[in-house]
Amino acid sequence: MLLHPTLNTTDIPVTNNRHSDGNPSQCVAYKRLTTLHRGCMTHLNRLRDVWDGLAEQDALHAILTDPTKKQGKWGIANFMATGVAEVSIVMNHLAQIGHYPQTESTALDFGCGVGRLTQALAQRFSSCVGIDVSQHMIQEANALNRYENCRYITSSSPVLPFDDASFTFIYSNIVLQHMPQRLSVGYLKEFVRVLAPGGILVFGVQDSFPIRDIPSLITWLRQTVRLRTRIKEALGGPGEMQMHCLSESAIRRALGRAKIVDIQFVNTAAKDFNGNLSYLPQAPTSGYVSKQYCAVKQS
Ligand SMILES: C[S@@+](CC[C@H](N)C(=O)[O-])C[C@H]1O[C@@H](n2cnc3c(N)ncnc32)[C@H](O)[C@@H]1O
Repeated sequence: MLLHPTLNTTDIPVTNNRHSDGNPSQCVAYKRLTTLHRGCMTHLNRLRDVWDGLAEQDALHAILTDPTKKQGKWGIANFMATGVAEVSIVMNHLAQIGHYPQTESTALDFGCGVGRLTQALAQRFSSCVGIDVSQHMIQEANALNRYENCRYITSSSPVLPFDDASFTFIYSNIVLQHMPQRLSVGYLKEFVRVLAPGGILVFGVQDSFPIRDIPSLITWLRQTVRLRTRIKEALGGPGEMQMHCLSESAIRRALGRAKIVDIQFVNTAAKDFNGNLSYLPQAPTSGYVSKQYCAVKQS
């Protein structure tokens, strides 16, 4: 069902980011790339290859790594239902803290995967865009798209292919933790650029890793050393999904004009996260500490 049938995807302010289409120097997003940005391209190309590979194997399990759902055991209806439930939890929380976004406009889902959350946002906003580095994820997202007011874009650029102030709501969950800080900090700055004044940004990150037990220590060592990934990369393979932390101080610096209005501990770092988002009363004592931030762009 379309809640906003009068608006269609042509209302969505997307600039042309397809570097491979035509002359790249004519592309708006390309022109915004600085030398520093171009230095990120190797990381991004690697990320794209990793996620394309994961999506090809089993996209749903790569997104929600519940071990009971390996090898195609996520039914699509159950999988997408987790997105509806998550967006509902987040929106109820935003209403409670007095920062409900304006919905008669466009929302962005950054790192949308197959559209688990984008489809849920499409039910609430006039229009919405899902963007992802993986073409395979976006192919699946397009195949699963049920809403005319929703569209998907592939981008492997550190610069988002949107004009300034294009969105009133940006959501990104279980995405920024999978990229090096240099990239995630750059995307946070980009979120603020493409957010309209007064717009709301909600995103999840892994904050830290309080090593208080042996299983945590082993996980931390594995993620930090990334031996298997390094060997695979050295052999020319695509590598593996990575985990990175992002501190509150780095986030505050990156957000600049956007003021943090809420920080919650969330359960999304759990190894068996199954899409059932919950707010925790305190930081977990084992494994990664995940936080969900809500920031408002100042007028
Ligand atoms: C764990 S999945 C989460 C998907 C979606 N947010 C959800 O919760 O259903 C992480 C997604 O982030 C995407 N991703 C990773 N790095 C990205 C980047 N630099 N730009 C856009 N998407 C990225 C991956 O391709 C993958 O689809």
